Amino acid sequence: PKRVFSGVQPTGNLHLGNYLGAISRFVPLQDEMPSIYCVVDMHAITVWQDPAELTRATREVTAAYLAAGIDPKKAIIFNQSQVKEHAELAWIFNCVARMGWLSRMTQFKEKAGKNRENASVGLFAYPALMAADILAYRATHVPVGDDQKQHLELTRDIAQKFNNDFQDRIKELGLGVPNPEPSPETPDELFFPVTEPMIAGPATRIMSLRDGTKKMSKSDPSDLSRINLTDDTDTIARKFKKAKTDPEPLPGEIEGLEARPEADNLVGIYAALSGVTKADVLKEYGGQQFSTFKPALSELAVEKLSPIAAEMRNLIADPAHIDAVLKDGAERAAAIAEPILHDVKRIAGFLECR
Ligand code: TYM
Repeated sequence: PKRVFSGVQPTGNLHLGNYLGAISRFVPLQDEMPSIYCVVDMHAITVWQDPAELTRATREVTAAYLAAGIDPKKAIIFNQSQVKEHAELAWIFNCVARMGWLSRMTQFKEKAGKNRENASVGLFAYPALMAADILAYRATHVPVGDDQKQHLELTRDIAQKFNNDFQDRIKELGLGVPNPEPSPETPDELFFPVTEPMIAGPATRIMSLRDGTKKMSKSDPSDLSRINLTDDTDTIARKFKKAKTDPEPLPGEIEGLEARPEADNLVGIYAALSGVTKADVLKEYGGQQFSTFKPALSELAVEKLSPIAAEMRNLIADPAHIDAVLKDGAERAAAIAEPILHDVKRIAGFLECR
């Protein structure tokens, strides 16, 4: 059975990259398969978070999910810390994942920086918790931006190693499902599915507006580098106006964007906001100067983002409503994860005495 899972960290400013690369793509999926969208507060604390700010940001991400069009009656929306199975499965996966696998994670190397001795153990183990998020629901499809690709490969490695290490036990207990892609190296019955990353469309990697070689990120010290979901009309227009570009007009063909990262990025943003391809955008704007394209882009961004920002403000003004959505979601999520963790513990051989 198919199931979608994805998550967003409640750490500071939600930006256009989070929206186009992830949240906006969650919305249509809720009609295609059972979907679970998580606010990953336990991931957030892998680096220091002010507690009151963490609470605020958790409600803000929830508001963004709702304002973007995720329907809490269809999809499950909840915050990670409220379903204990995430932490339980993460511990087991800490014992499945190898030090070598986690040492190769580029996000850890970037976030830990030079002072690795002082990084939290949680930051190192982060991808095992992410695998637990997904596999506590045996989710099959995970929509994310390009920066999460390596973490999803690790999730597949963890699922595969668990399925291999425990293959006899899984069979004995009758808990496996037939391997959809049988091969001599893999067992014929699996407990965890091998998850499908969904990284597609023109906005899998939105870049900084100040530097087309750096991704747009919550932690960039320059606010001009990103469009925040809560930016007002004037701010959006000003940021696009100041966005770095080269002096050439836009090309007519997609090949003309190669080696022009800033132009490529702005065209990708336009394409994603309007739901067309980059080639379509160039059909319309090829040959035009940025002095024409940037105002059109600002107008489009305001048209698409300002209703979301307004709805987010309404929702945040009523925290009791947000908390009720999260409570209902956590209960529904737990109802799925509990029996799966029960089976995982039996597979591992944990003696059940109460
Ligand atoms: P996070 O909170 O950093 O980002 C949330 C989502 O936004 C995407 N994203 C981008 N997409 C395009 N361009 C960008 N510049 C950009 N910046 C961020 C991210 O790829 C992500 O999809 N580890 C995850 C959260 C997580 C998770 C999970 C995701 C925890 N458990 C389980 C999927 C499944 C993270 O830090 O995302």
